[in-house]
Amino acid sequence: SVVILDFGSQYTRLIARRIRELRAYSVILPGTASLERIKAENPQAIILSGGPASVFDPHSPRPAAAVLEQPLPTLGICYGMQLMAQTLGGKVERAGRREYGKAVLTQHSGPLFAGLEGELQMWMSHSDAVTELPPGWRVIAQTEENPVAGIASPDGRTFGVQFHPEVVHSPKGMQVLENFLELAGVARDWTPEHTLETLLADVRAKVGNDKVMLAVSGGVDSSTLALLLARAVGDKLTAVFVDHGLLRLNERREVEAALRPLGDKNLRVVDAAQEFLSALRGVTDPEQKRKIVGREFIRVFEREARALSEQGYRWLAQGTLYPDVIESAGSGEGSANIKSHHNVGGLPEDLKFELLEPFRYLFKDEVRELALLLGLPEPIRMRHPFPGPGLSIRILGEVTPEKLDILRRADDIFISSLRDWNLYDTVSQALAVLTPLQSVGVIGDERSYGYVLGLRAVSTVDFMTADWARLPLDFLDEVARKITRQVPEIGRVVYDITSKPPATIEWE
Ligand code: XMP
Repeated sequence: SVVILDFGSQYTRLIARRIRELRAYSVILPGTASLERIKAENPQAIILSGGPASVFDPHSPRPAAAVLEQPLPTLGICYGMQLMAQTLGGKVERAGRREYGKAVLTQHSGPLFAGLEGELQMWMSHSDAVTELPPGWRVIAQTEENPVAGIASPDGRTFGVQFHPEVVHSPKGMQVLENFLELAGVARDWTPEHTLETLLADVRAKVGNDKVMLAVSGGVDSSTLALLLARAVGDKLTAVFVDHGLLRLNERREVEAALRPLGDKNLRVVDAAQEFLSALRGVTDPEQKRKIVGREFIRVFEREARALSEQGYRWLAQGTLYPDVIESAGSGEGSANIKSHHNVGGLPEDLKFELLEPFRYLFKDEVRELALLLGLPEPIRMRHPFPGPGLSIRILGEVTPEKLDILRRADDIFISSLRDWNLYDTVSQALAVLTPLQSVGVIGDERSYGYVLGLRAVSTVDFMTADWARLPLDFLDEVARKITRQVPEIGRVVYDITSKPPATIEWE
């Protein structure tokens, strides 16, 4: 495996993903982790991430000295390279100005660049620079501006690079990372098949003969987890699917079909639509809607959990992913030390489950690969995210059964059309929003009033920022015609051309 020490770079997770794309297992630890902690991961190599700090800042995060002196092959990226150079007897200086953007390596040599000929474009973002090498080290890359863009240790197994091989703006960066893994002799056995076998064995060892419950939402994570657990523990699993009445058209049927391998007995569908709708009656404030849906969900789930707990269920499985638990430098997020025996997700004190989180070391795309192996149907495997509060936050104003019905039909036309035009996978998320606005139209010779429906589709990597999707005009034209024809309550269709920020993805 590879341990990535995080010094606060925005790219640290990307490094971890790239290494896993190269089929090597990687974990992220805080940059200041002790050598002992690092060794507990049994790494074959270490990567030092970049970071926003300067090595001249007395408070900048630093690896324990022992970490840089140990013999494992190490790759320092940007700030990581500067730390390395400074600690091992070289010199770092303030460059005076910041080198930022695409740079070209005019010179590069040695095995880190094996298979890469000629000038190489790499992404740079730094203002300090290495000006003197530690004793015995060699320069292996240069740019016009930067005579020390890459360095290698005397034993030729440890490297520093000033550029960021992990980002897309370094088109051959993956080759550099792969060369490093090869030179370090890192095992490349992190295949989906291997991951699946490991997870199945881990779950079986942990759970033994005990019973497991799981809440499924219809999203890819919980559905994949349901299939994994069904394979691992068979009949000892009960998956609970709460239908809150705020789902899309046919969604419940799709989820039931996808989870059929669990068998009828192991999938419990709770129809709670009436409870949710009554609780939402008269509510117009979006944050209030979110709170109510969250509260009702816990109420229904608690009822199910209590019943199962009385039948001896001991484990509660959750589809927590690695990005939720990474304990990285300075971010303060994550919860690497989650206790395995605690009170979970708002359940009351007296209801104790042990928490089972088989995916807590996986990234989303790795879960999707597992989903493929486990036979999760494509529409669910490649599904866009869908918010927990469901359609309640896509009906601006009060949620009523009539409005849900209108929105469901219109949304289904939009989403099915995206699939028909092979556009669904080209966008990250698509949705329809029913506004309370009524606008004037004309049908035949009559004036008519109909709702204004908003359509939105976005492209995004992390959902923190998003760009509105440039869907073909002919496509939008067809969708608007279909919706106004088949859903007569809607009089006008508009397409949202606002990016995030300033707009959010959802309208509420
Ligand atoms: P926004 O609207 O904040 O959405 O740009 C970013 C992503 O989060 C989803 N979203 C939610 N998911 N509960 C959820 O589970 C919520 O209350 C919620 N609000 C927004 C949204 O669909 C998008 O993917």
